Amino acid sequence: MTNVVAIENVHKTYHLGDERIRALRGVSLEVERGQFVAIMGASGSGKTTLLHLTGGLDLPDDGSVLVNRYAGDTDDVTIIETHNITTMSDRERTLFRRRRLGIVFQAFNLMPNLTALENVMLPHLIEGRSAADARHRADELIAMVHLEHRTKHRPANLSGGEQQRVAIARSLMNEPVLILADEPTGNLDPTSSMEIWQLLQRLAHETKTTVLMVTHEAAAAARADRVHILKEGRFTGIIESQGPPDEALVTTRYAELAN
Ligand SMILES: Nc1ncnc2c1ncn2[C@@H]1O[C@H](COP(=O)(O)OP(=O)(O)OP(=O)(O)O)[C@@H](O)[C@H]1O
Ligand SMILES: [Mg+2]
Repeated sequence: MTNVVAIENVHKTYHLGDERIRALRGVSLEVERGQFVAIMGASGSGKTTLLHLTGGLDLPDDGSVLVNRYAGDTDDVTIIETHNITTMSDRERTLFRRRRLGIVFQAFNLMPNLTALENVMLPHLIEGRSAADARHRADELIAMVHLEHRTKHRPANLSGGEQQRVAIARSLMNEPVLILADEPTGNLDPTSSMEIWQLLQRLAHETKTTVLMVTHEAAAAARADRVHILKEGRFTGIIESQGPPDEALVTTRYAELAN
């Protein structure tokens, strides 16, 4: 087994005044190294909650969340680090996120006063690494997301798709074991969205950077290796990719599993 993510029977209830909201009711999920996995479900089904628990942004009431790091970037299956999210201190969780995860949001979350290149460099600089190192790696990643012609632009002067490519490049600076993406194309047009899905797929399959993506869009989910359907805090089924992206299959199966 080469699981990067191993989530077992997590429960999460939010308390808001007198109200109890059972966001997750016993969810288990394993994601293997280099897999591109999508989570779909209606609004309020618990998708973001699950992503937050995976990234240690929040803690489950019950159950366990493990994230494993493997040696090398090829077929070496030696685990060199196991992060047990539920037993870490707050400080350890913060460092874990900063050093081991790539997090991509719908809203891009770039620093408005920094250029594209500076935004990508930032994770290295926060870690106290040299500007020269940061620059070197950022240049590589900017090239990977095809933004060499936009390095000096600030976010306001980039298209939505370009901003998200900057955010993805930034998320890769520290060579994350896992990318967590919450509706990464929610603000993008179809062409830009397609580029982002292809980029995430390439990251997973070519660089073995495991990707867990929440999405509403069947076209997005169809590009994943596997889609887990969440309904009212529980998984109701899985759609396995049968080869080339099949949006119609995802739409049909989703309708069966989510309603
Ligand atoms: N901090 C919070 N306090 C109280 N309730 C919350 C909190 N965060 C989420 N919830 C509730 O938990 C449930 C699951 O929320 P979550 O954000 O995980 O849904 P989601 O599947 O990501 O939805 P969407 O597709 O709209 O983003 C919802 O009913 C939501 O209202
Ligand atoms: Mg959400």
